[in-house]
Amino acid sequence: MTEAKKEIVLSGIRSTGNLHLGNYFGALRKFVAIQDDYDCNFFVADLHALTTNPDPRELHANVKNIVAEYLAAGIDPDKATIFVQSDVPEVAEMYLLLNMHVGIGELMRTVSFKDKARKALGLGSNEAENDDDFAKEIVGRDTGKRVNAGLLTYPTLMAVDILIQKATKVPVGKDQLQHLELTRRFARRFNAFYGVDLLPEPYDFDFGGQPIKVPGLDGSGKMGKSEGNCIYLIDEPKALRKKVMRAVTDEGPQEPNSPMSEPVANLFTLLELTSTPDVVAHFREAYADCSIRYGDLKKQLAEDILNITTPIRERINDIMADEDYLRRVLARGAERARERASKTLAEVREVMGIRKF
Ligand code: TRP
Repeated sequence: MTEAKKEIVLSGIRSTGNLHLGNYFGALRKFVAIQDDYDCNFFVADLHALTTNPDPRELHANVKNIVAEYLAAGIDPDKATIFVQSDVPEVAEMYLLLNMHVGIGELMRTVSFKDKARKALGLGSNEAENDDDFAKEIVGRDTGKRVNAGLLTYPTLMAVDILIQKATKVPVGKDQLQHLELTRRFARRFNAFYGVDLLPEPYDFDFGGQPIKVPGLDGSGKMGKSEGNCIYLIDEPKALRKKVMRAVTDEGPQEPNSPMSEPVANLFTLLELTSTPDVVAHFREAYADCSIRYGDLKKQLAEDILNITTPIRERINDIMADEDYLRRVLARGAERARERASKTLAEVREVMGIRKF
């Protein structure tokens, strides 16, 4: 019996820090759930991390952390391909080739680029508000501040990650959907220019249901490493409890059935993700009849979070200590990723007229 070809799923994560609960519920746990049914490829985007010029030692350490965290969360190297982006040099070459069909205007209009360039230039959100002013800021004068070209071509590199593997399903967060849209546009453009049907258009992976938004501990917004409001998978119990106990709340419900403030609603969201329905119901009732003590809620929440993170943390530590194992996993991952990448690259070179004599 021949097995039907599994669809290719690919997702990457930049190596800029440890993974947190938002990554776990928003991505890792879902990756684990689909690894039997799809041809899954998960990689650490260390070249993308270079766009913000990290300290080299830190970058290297972070790559290792993330691989260990992927594995500890349950991604199985016998089922999924786990690799490091820079272990696939074909990506760098195809990035050069694809850039010849990417416009600097469309890259400059990308939301993520504008945000990052603004930061690099030290601009406030009300300075250089429209696209004309923004473009002038970047090309107009030499202020000594620099927006590096890698930041501009970030979407090209991401498109290549996807297209070189011919992945069609790409689980990403909302902030990455524009990059996925650009990837489709680049693929269409390439195919049309050369009159080929070489690069398939990728789409966001639809896990069904509402996307999970994991809030931070600081009262507003989602958990994110740049927000400083994270619970990390690697957090030690003591530190984790302390963080949760310090989470922002309010002065408590003043009358029965009051609406919830955002900070308190966020704690309930975290409790729903990590606790059992009866515990959640208990605290909801306590909130409704004003008997709730946020200290009790936080204590419970911390323990429920620890129930999830403790086995993962222990596995992370074991894996981090086993360099041989990590090396084996990554060597195998790189080999598999390169197999497909070199095939696509050869096709792309051929189509573009880069041929051997
Ligand atoms: N840009 C993505 C992020 O910051 C990471 C990434 C790089 C990626 N290449 C990718 C995600 C390819 C999916 C597919 O989250």
